[in-house]
Amino acid sequence: IADIKGGPQGGLERVGEYMLVRGWVRTCRSQKTFAFIEVNDGSAVSNLQAVVNTNVEGYNEVEAGRVTTGASVSIEGVLVESQGSKQKVELQASKLLLIGGSDAATFPVQKKRLSREYLRSIAHLRPRTNTFGAVARVRNALAFATHQFFKEKGFVWVASPIITASDCEGAGEQFCVTTLIPNSHEDPSTPLSKIPSTKDGLLDWSQDFFGRPAFLTVSGQLNAEIYATALCDVYTFGPTFRAENSNTSRHLAEFWMIEPELAFADLRDDMACATAYLQYVIKYILENCKEDMEFFDQWIEKGIITRLTNVVEKEFMHITYTSAVALLQKAKKTFEFPVEWGCDLQSEHERYLTEEAFSGNPVIVTDYPKEIKAFYMRENADGKTVAAMDLLVPRVGELIGGSQREERLDVLERRIEELGLNKESYWWYLDLRRYGSVPHAGFGLGFERLVQFATGIENIRDVIPFPRTPGSADF
Ligand code: 4AD
Ligand code: MG
Repeated sequence: IADIKGGPQGGLERVGEYMLVRGWVRTCRSQKTFAFIEVNDGSAVSNLQAVVNTNVEGYNEVEAGRVTTGASVSIEGVLVESQGSKQKVELQASKLLLIGGSDAATFPVQKKRLSREYLRSIAHLRPRTNTFGAVARVRNALAFATHQFFKEKGFVWVASPIITASDCEGAGEQFCVTTLIPNSHEDPSTPLSKIPSTKDGLLDWSQDFFGRPAFLTVSGQLNAEIYATALCDVYTFGPTFRAENSNTSRHLAEFWMIEPELAFADLRDDMACATAYLQYVIKYILENCKEDMEFFDQWIEKGIITRLTNVVEKEFMHITYTSAVALLQKAKKTFEFPVEWGCDLQSEHERYLTEEAFSGNPVIVTDYPKEIKAFYMRENADGKTVAAMDLLVPRVGELIGGSQREERLDVLERRIEELGLNKESYWWYLDLRRYGSVPHAGFGLGFERLVQFATGIENIRDVIPFPRTPGSADF
C-alpha cells in the first residue's frame, strides 16, 4: 500500500494495473450493490479502499457479515481512479478471499480512539493501530539511519555483551543473572518453562552465573573502549538494563543504547559527533518517513515537523554546567528542587534549559562536577570538574550522556581508589592505559528517548514494542 499510495501522484500513475493486496480490514461498509473495504497492510498509515461489487467472487463473505474490523483478507483487482474525495485511487475488486475472521463483538481494537494505557494492556494487538504502526516504522528508519551514519563515517559496529561482571556506571543499578536449579523433589529433567517461576517451593535460586557474579549490562561503553583503542572509531547498538525502580515517562528497565567511542578524540570531537549524528538521523526520517511524520504532526504533536527541521538546520547551544547553574538560579521560576553548584540536574532543570532558556533548541551542557559523574570521566585542569557532556532536548530532557575518558593511568587509579571501587576487577580497563593509551571520548544515546523526541510520543512505554518497567514483563 505504501508503494501504491506513496507514489508521486498518490497512486494515479499506477491506474490500470492488476494487483493483489493482503492485509487487515479496518472497516467494511456495505451498500445495496457493493461494499467498501478499507484494508491496511502495515506499510503505511494509509488504507487502500477496495470496492467489492455483489457479483464479485467472495462477496458472500461480506453478505454473511464475516468481513469485519480486524479480519485478514486478500483482494485482487484493478487499480482505478477513485470517485471519492478522500483518496486518489481505489481497488476495483474482482476476487475477495477471507483468510482469518475476527469476532466483531470481542475484537479489542475498534475504530474509536483508545487510551495509551489500555493499548499497553493489549501489546499483542496495538501494532494494528495507526499510531503504533507509524512508531514501529519510524523506529526502524532511525535504526537504519544510525547504521548508515556510522558506516559513512568509517565506524565499526561492535557487539557488546549483555551478561557482564562489571558495572560501567558504578551506580549499582544492575540486574543480577541467576542460575535456576530445580529443587530436589522435582524431576531435574523438567524443562524450566513447565515449572512455575515462584521463588518458594519449586526452585532453588543461586545468585550467580555458574559460580561467579554476573549482571545484565548497564552500558557497553567499557567494551567499546577496548575496541576503540584498537580499531579507532567504533559503536555499539544493543539492549541495556537498569534496575532503577522509577516510574517515569522516560525510564525503562530495558532500553536500547547507541554508544560511539572515538579514539584520538577529545570532548569537542565527541560533541561534534553527537550533533552530526542527531541531525543526520532526524533529516533521514523527515525525508524518508513523510506520511508517518505528517501523521504525528496532525495527531500526536502539532508542529513537530517544524521543530525537527530546526534541529537539522540550527546550531546546538553549548553551555558549561557552572553557567547553567547560574542561569537556573536567576530563572523566574520556582523549581521543586532548588539548584546549587554540585547538585545533579533534575528533569525540570533540563527541560527549563532547553525549552525555555534556549527556546526549544537542543543544548549541550559540559564540564560537570566530578562528584556527580562516573569514575571514567577525564578530570579537568581545575581538579573539580570532568570533561563530560549531556545533550538535552525539549520534552525528553537528557537524550545523550557522554565524556572524554580518563586516559592517564595514575589519575584513573587514584579516582578508582577515591571512589572505593574494586581496582582488581578493572585490571583489563587499566591495561588499556598501560599499553598505548590514547585520548578518547564517546557517548551513549538512549534509543527510545530518540524515538520519543522524533515522534512526539509522550511516554517511553509507547515507543518500544514490549516495554519493561517495574511490574510489567508480559508479552
Ligand atoms: O547517561 P548514561 O547513564 O550514560 C552511560 O551509560 C554511558 N556509559 C554512556 C557512554 O558514554 N557510552 O546513559 C546514556 C543515555 C541517557 O542519556 C539516556 O538517554 C539513556 O541512556 N538512558 C535511559 N533510557 C531509558 N531508560 C533508562 N532507564 C535510561 N537510563 C539512561
Ligand atoms: Mg546520564
